[in-house]
Amino acid sequence: MVGEGISVGEAWELIRKVLNKIDKNSTNLTHFPHITQNAKWITRVDGDWTGGFWVGLLWLSYKLTDEKRYEKLAYDWLKLLEKRKKDRTPDLGFLFYPSFALGYQITNDAQLKRTALEAANTLTTIFNEKANFIHDEKSTDAGKIGQSAIDFMMNLQLLWWAHEETGEEKYHQIAFKHSTSTIKNLIRKDGSTIHVIDFDLKSGDTIRKKTEQGYSNDSCWSRGQAWAIYGFALAYEATMENSFLETAEKVSAYFVRKLPQDYVPFWDFNDPKIPNTVRDSSAAAIACSGMLTLSEVAKKEEFKETVHKILDSLSKNYWAEKGDGLLKHGCYHKPEKLGVDESLIWGDYYFVEALEKSRRK
Ligand code: GLY
Repeated sequence: MVGEGISVGEAWELIRKVLNKIDKNSTNLTHFPHITQNAKWITRVDGDWTGGFWVGLLWLSYKLTDEKRYEKLAYDWLKLLEKRKKDRTPDLGFLFYPSFALGYQITNDAQLKRTALEAANTLTTIFNEKANFIHDEKSTDAGKIGQSAIDFMMNLQLLWWAHEETGEEKYHQIAFKHSTSTIKNLIRKDGSTIHVIDFDLKSGDTIRKKTEQGYSNDSCWSRGQAWAIYGFALAYEATMENSFLETAEKVSAYFVRKLPQDYVPFWDFNDPKIPNTVRDSSAAAIACSGMLTLSEVAKKEEFKETVHKILDSLSKNYWAEKGDGLLKHGCYHKPEKLGVDESLIWGDYYFVEALEKSRRK
């Protein structure tokens, strides 16, 4: 299955360990797991931006085992997330793709599709026509400043899916324009990414480019880079547009060039304290799953070796033997000292997603 590094036997052993933890968590949790503190889940009643990943882990468990109890659990948790479908936030992709859209793909339940489409519709309402960006209204300054970020490339997954399901052009157009604007504004010549852009909501003019979760405005936050890898791989898959493929390859090549020996990146590629600083295992998991998609859609072998090395390293060196999460050594928000050297629910999700995808090869 997984290729170099992990044997078929080891992969099944790993899946068994994953399922044991998911079983334990599903018994103990009443609210959505978000990040850990001292290796114990901090939870969120409304799911924050991450509730979809916990439901997604339950769907992946169902896919891996065919055991109906995971399907039932996923449905139970979906009920707690559904009310978020009208929230005007770019996070709708994170919230509704791994939960409702993935659930629909697995079960063919039309109600799950309807809810995911409602969320996709809400996502289209926060697109700014001047800047050609989906933007975060909570960050706006009294309706004057719009804010977009490299992370939002991943939220487009919900729009690409909605277009494929319905054929409605608006989903495709908005996702296409947002991707093009991201290339223009948030990808540097060397293939590194900028985290955040503030723009004038009326004119669309750029006000500033900056970081919020990275080391500095000029640095490259490794998880932002990972979102760009996966986001542009999906954009290419949905459109076959050459500039999206070129960008996916360029940001992937930068990520691979900057990886340390164990194939799991430091939290920011430009932290001057490297190697005496923290890793972000979630960036490795996202990039790994994104490069798997890229390899598949571009029919290229280039990143496959890295994918195997990352998966191998995460499985062997980053498995959280103790604690609630699956992967240790994630980093959520270093400048705010949140979730530093902890487990992160999205890292766990993309790790299992990558494992499940490579099992199919
Ligand atoms: N907001 C997405 C992230 O922290 O990566």
